[in-house]
Amino acid sequence: MSTSEQWQTVCRREALAEHQAIEFTVNETPGFILAHKGHISAFVNRCPHLGIGLNWMPGRFLDVDRCFIQCATHGALFTIDRGQCIAGPCQGEALTPLETREQDGELLVRVPA
Ligand code: FES
Repeated sequence: MSTSEQWQTVCRREALAEHQAIEFTVNETPGFILAHKGHISAFVNRCPHLGIGLNWMPGRFLDVDRCFIQCATHGALFTIDRGQCIAGPCQGEALTPLETREQDGELLVRVPA
């Protein structure tokens, strides 16, 4: 399998500001990529509680303090770095992380086929 089959470009690096998220769909998988304290994370946009999308507003995934990813439906909180649920109905479960990398000023994610 070639690199181009595994990695998909989702946005330019400069398009992703601190505490912002950009949504994407690759291989029919909805996801989001976000920047936090200089670190880039990406996850499948699916809450482990009910298997539905985390956000109601486009690009809005963080809680009011911008410390956790928050599910808009029942308020579950997930760590930004690893997607671990630390409060809410799916406590102990986790978001599905996606590998990310930066190449030539673009952000890429690897989505399972
Ligand atoms: S659907 Fe996400 S916490 Fe219930």
